[in-house]
Amino acid sequence: MVNEKYQKFIREQFDELKRINYAPHFRVLAGPDDTKSNLDGQEILVLCANNYLGLANHPEMKEAAIAAIKKYGAGMGTGRKIMTYDIQEELDEKLAEFKSADAALVYPTGYTANMGSIWCVMTEGDTIVSDELNHASIIDGCRMARKTNRIIYKHTDMEDLEKKLKESTKTRETGKTMIITDAVFSMDGDICPLPEIVELAEKYDAFTFIDEAHASGVLGKNGRGTCEHFNVEGKVEVQMGTLSKALATVGGYIAGSEELRYYLYRRSRPFCFSTGFLSPGECGAALKAVEILKREPERVERLRDNTKYFKKELQDLGFNTGVSQTPITPVIVGTPEKAQSLSKLLYEKEKIFCGAISYPVVPKGTDRIRSIVNAHHTREQLDYAVGGFERVGKELGII
Ligand SMILES: Cc1ncc(COP(=O)(O)O)c(C=O)c1O
Repeated sequence: MVNEKYQKFIREQFDELKRINYAPHFRVLAGPDDTKSNLDGQEILVLCANNYLGLANHPEMKEAAIAAIKKYGAGMGTGRKIMTYDIQEELDEKLAEFKSADAALVYPTGYTANMGSIWCVMTEGDTIVSDELNHASIIDGCRMARKTNRIIYKHTDMEDLEKKLKESTKTRETGKTMIITDAVFSMDGDICPLPEIVELAEKYDAFTFIDEAHASGVLGKNGRGTCEHFNVEGKVEVQMGTLSKALATVGGYIAGSEELRYYLYRRSRPFCFSTGFLSPGECGAALKAVEILKREPERVERLRDNTKYFKKELQDLGFNTGVSQTPITPVIVGTPEKAQSLSKLLYEKEKIFCGAISYPVVPKGTDRIRSIVNAHHTREQLDYAVGGFERVGKELGII
């Protein structure tokens, strides 16, 4: 006998989701995530994966994962706080080097890296100043940082940030202050104004925490991220990153000082209360991804060329791509129905996959589909995609 109140609640949620027609079901991959993939039994051009550098199905990545499994086994055995594998320690070291930081610590996901570290670093009486469009994992991490003052500033608005920092100096007395921001905003693809943020942090006795999820492997000449892009290396105290996007595996990390790493190792809740960390195979593949990126920075250049080309073609057709400066290119259509129809027709008629996104993930009236090109898309594939957008956009009266 199932509890009635529980059942009613779940049914209401289910009906509402069906009503607004969020993805009718999960799209099922029956092979690797590539530019063209076997999705739901058909060959589909994928234009929404985070596999920015096309590494997810790279033969060397697969070989590295297999070699690590052969050497260490498939599972973890125990959590890192009890016994840590040398390959896990090596991954921490290589990521620190990649981010030009003294040390880094890997978490099971980017989500837990934010959650687990923000809560640890910010304690009673501290002040968190956060961009209004920060990722949910930052918001949740800030919520967990109890008894802190939490202040939101307008998206990338440096005047508002300064105003909020100035106002809060009156109340923040002894506690420390952290400015926290996505480096690349995951729904709009714009970049935070990091040099100005760092300057304001210095001016108002604050430190900076950036979420490099969509910046590592994407921004900077060598793909090292936003600090490299803006030439402010060494000026950001905490850099969070994820392995699940450009580095094409799974996991997140925090890069900063040796002391920070040790403190998180000892106190961060995902370390203290979970066995779940990257398994040897995942570590092997992630190490290989860092190595390939270092060896082949031209992948980042190719990603940039593809992004520039695709964005311009969409803009020339009259699509609204918002303020994007990165491979995340939204096509903003303004209503949930239009976003759903655009995504659906692209999929069904053109065999192109781009998901629709609506409120509450993005503000009302900015409903969109979110496209992402990667370094491996060929010009022919991009031209095909542009043609598909044009046909469907005209059919729906969007352009
Ligand atoms: C800006 C940002 N931060 C953090 C995360 C979480 O990373 P992960 O997917 O590795 O948990 C994401 C992923 O969607 C993200 O977009």
